[in-house]
Parts: sequence; structure tokens; C-alpha cells
Amino acid sequence: MEVVQEGRSGMGNVFTRFNGDFTDRHLLSMHQLTAGDIHLLLADAQAAEEAVRNPAERGVNILPLTELKAVMRQPSTRTGGSMATAMHKLGGGAQVISGMEASSEGKGETQADSWIAFATQADIIGTRTDRVGGPATAAQVINMARRDRKLVGHVPVINLGDGTNEHPTQALGDLFTIFKKFGTFEGLTMALVGDHERYRAHHSLMIGASILGIKVIAVESMVAPVPDDFTRLGGANLERTDDLDAAMQRADILYIGRNPDEYSGDNITERERSKQLAHDYTKWVVDRRRLQQMHKDAIVMHPRPRRHELDPSIDMDPRASDVQQMADMIPMRMAIIARLLGKSIKEERDQRLAAAS
Ligand code: CP
Repeated sequence: MEVVQEGRSGMGNVFTRFNGDFTDRHLLSMHQLTAGDIHLLLADAQAAEEAVRNPAERGVNILPLTELKAVMRQPSTRTGGSMATAMHKLGGGAQVISGMEASSEGKGETQADSWIAFATQADIIGTRTDRVGGPATAAQVINMARRDRKLVGHVPVINLGDGTNEHPTQALGDLFTIFKKFGTFEGLTMALVGDHERYRAHHSLMIGASILGIKVIAVESMVAPVPDDFTRLGGANLERTDDLDAAMQRADILYIGRNPDEYSGDNITERERSKQLAHDYTKWVVDRRRLQQMHKDAIVMHPRPRRHELDPSIDMDPRASDVQQMADMIPMRMAIIARLLGKSIKEERDQRLAAAS
């Protein structure tokens, strides 16, 4: 949230809220979205899923000759690849850049100059950075270049995960999985388990939950508690506990994430924190036996990659929804890309189907 404020004071407001208008915007934080915006994206994702599943369509060809660049400055198996798949299913082209080792940054080029170079090659950019606020910086640099007439046209930037801060497209895909399962967000309770300080998927999902009124039970470690900003945001809809089993018994959704220990520092305080957190994760392992205490219509979600906290013994249980969750990212990312480029998949598809009938 601090980053949102920083972005507001720099080179123009790159965190403009959508409020139903996705033009000339970047998607950097869940804070930019209203409940109405999320529902627009859900409707578009639903239309995208139907179009992809229909053998006669296999996608929606609404962005031909349009190019996506997914610049992944941190490792990724899912996000960069699913952005590329989403763009292909929209009729466009995509390039995923995995790491910058082979780029001209190795010859001393600044990251700012890299963003401008990518903006000359692409109509839309998604990026993952180790630095909090990295995608916002990219958006600011690109906006500045446009203001100075070095670039023609708006190039939206999508945050695909910025350090320990946020992962908004993950949260939107997660909300699609939840909405498909329950048909509503009203009355739902979600147990959210893991490192609440440093796990970006949790942050974006907590913001989404607060926008939509989903009750959150945060299962937390005393060394990685829910940050104050999120406690304020959750208000009466947030409970905090260290009792995973009690939370599971009350939850419709169990959402667990891995230990993001790549962010651990190398000093005494950090080493103590890491030791305690690793211990707490051993108490949070969800296996098939433990899952039985959830109600039969509950779902278990994990953004993956998973480690021991989500035991493969749950994979055969119908409540395990983490593979569906991965698949759901593609129609949601189609919806996001299309909206940022001025198209609604639902509207375009409805018109095409009506014209064909
Ligand atoms: N969920 C997610 O962001 O996965 P990747 O790190 O593999 O992209």
C-alpha cells in the first residue's frame, strides 16, 4: 500500500482506479479495482472460457497482430506462460522473457531503457520483478516516454508479481475459481494460511476479499503476521488465529501458500524469523486426512508452486481445486489483457454469436 502512495507522487498517477473504464490504465494493484470492475472481468473471463472450450472457436480472435511481452525478472512456470497462452487465444502474439541475463542490461543498459525498448516492441507488457514497485516504475517510465512523444500510444503494464507486495492477476484468477464454484462471494469464509508479511498472492487476495466482502480467517505465524495495513483493510471481515484446524472447520475456501523464503535476509533477526516460520509451516501441512474436517463443498486452493504444505495425498480429493485454479488463470488473463486494450471479450463474443445466428 505504501507503494501505491509512492506511485501517486512520481511521474503521474499510474495507479488510477478503473471504475468501469479500463482505457489508458495499467494494472498494478488490486486497490485500483471496484467490485463492479471485478465483476466485469469475471463476466469476460466466463465468456473467454466458453470460447476456448468451444472446439469451433478455441479462443476469440479480437486482438490480431497485437503483441504481448511478458518480462519475468523472477522465476515463473505459470504466470508468464499463461499470459502468453492468453494472448494467443485472443489472436495476438506473445514473447516470454525469462530473466534478463541475455539482455543488454548485461552491457550496462538501465532498466528504464529496457522498459522503453520493450514498449517499442509490444502493445502490452506484463512483468514480474523482485523489487516492490518494479511494474509501477515500468509504467511510470513508459508514461513519461509517451508524454515526451518518444512513444506513440498507451502501452499498459500489468503487475505479474512485484517482490513481497502484490500479484493482482493471480488474485483475479483466484476469484474466478471461487466465483465459478460458489456463484457468489456473499457469505463465503476463506481461511488464508502462510506468511502474511511477504506472500504477495495473499496480499492481492486479501484486498480482493475486502472489496467483495469475503470473510477472511488469517492463519498466521507470530513472526509473519498480517501487516497493519491489511488488518485495517479487513476490519470486521478479518479474524486472526494460529489454529489451522479450527479455521478449516469453518471455511468454504482453504487458501494456502508456500513459504516465500527467497526473501529471507542474512542477519540474526532474519535467521530466527526463518527458523520459526519454517517450524510453523511444518504444522500447517494439509494432507488428505486433515482435509476431511472441511465441509464436502469446500475447496482447497494454492497458487503454486507448492512444497510440503500441500501434500499430494489431497490431489484425488474433489475439493482440491489448485489445478483448476491454474487453468482459470488463462481466461482471466485473457479478460485483463483485452480490457486494458479496450475490448470486452463478452461484448465482442456476444455480438459475433448474435451475428452468426
Ligand atoms: N502462481 C504463480 O505465480 O506461479 P509462478 O511463480 O510459477 O508464475
